[in-house]
Amino acid sequence: MVTGDSIRKVAAVIAREYAQAAARKDELPAPPVNEETARVLAERKRETFAEMLAFLQDRQADMKAVGEGNFNFHRAPAAVIFGVYPCRDQNFLKSGVAAMENFMLAAAARGLGTCWSNAVSICQESVRAALDLPSDLILVDGIAVGYPVEGSPINDIPRRRLPIEDVTEWRE
Ligand SMILES: Cc1cc2nc3c(=O)[nH]c(=O)nc-3n(C[C@H](O)[C@H](O)[C@H](O)COP(=O)(O)O)c2cc1C
Repeated sequence: MVTGDSIRKVAAVIAREYAQAAARKDELPAPPVNEETARVLAERKRETFAEMLAFLQDRQADMKAVGEGNFNFHRAPAAVIFGVYPCRDQNFLKSGVAAMENFMLAAAARGLGTCWSNAVSICQESVRAALDLPSDLILVDGIAVGYPVEGSPINDIPRRRLPIEDVTEWRE
């Protein structure tokens, strides 16, 4: 759990390192999807972002604060950083992600708001250094925790979910 000076320190290293760390994703191999799937995904991403921006601009949201929110846990007073130590059975990563989801559900049940922050894993080397964490601890990601700001448009962005039949394949 980071709060006070620690959360500010993590936000500062993320703001400083993000652009460079994010650019490194171009060094990763391209995902193994066929051309048609890649086209559909890219189009969906473009449309989703365009809709999201139009919705926020329409409501005169502070777009700078919205963008910076990805680096500073949306100005929440606390965040939890989830880390896992690698082990042989490959379950370590899955356990970390499950813990994050469970944490968000438990927080919501108590009236708290959360937001996943993938800048933590993207900037993990700097975050580990800033918090003096062991070098073999893999940072899965961070979760911002606070009380949702009533009436903030960022909490009302329309959901754009694919119908369940489009994302489910049935085998009998
Ligand atoms: C792996 C992952 C990474 C995410 N990273 C961010 C992030 O960096 N910043 C952010 O504002 N939200 C992030 N989110 C939250 C999503 O934007 C979205 O709010 C969340 O998945 C809930 O979906 P819903 O709003 O459609 O219910 C992330 C979600 C996931 C699953």
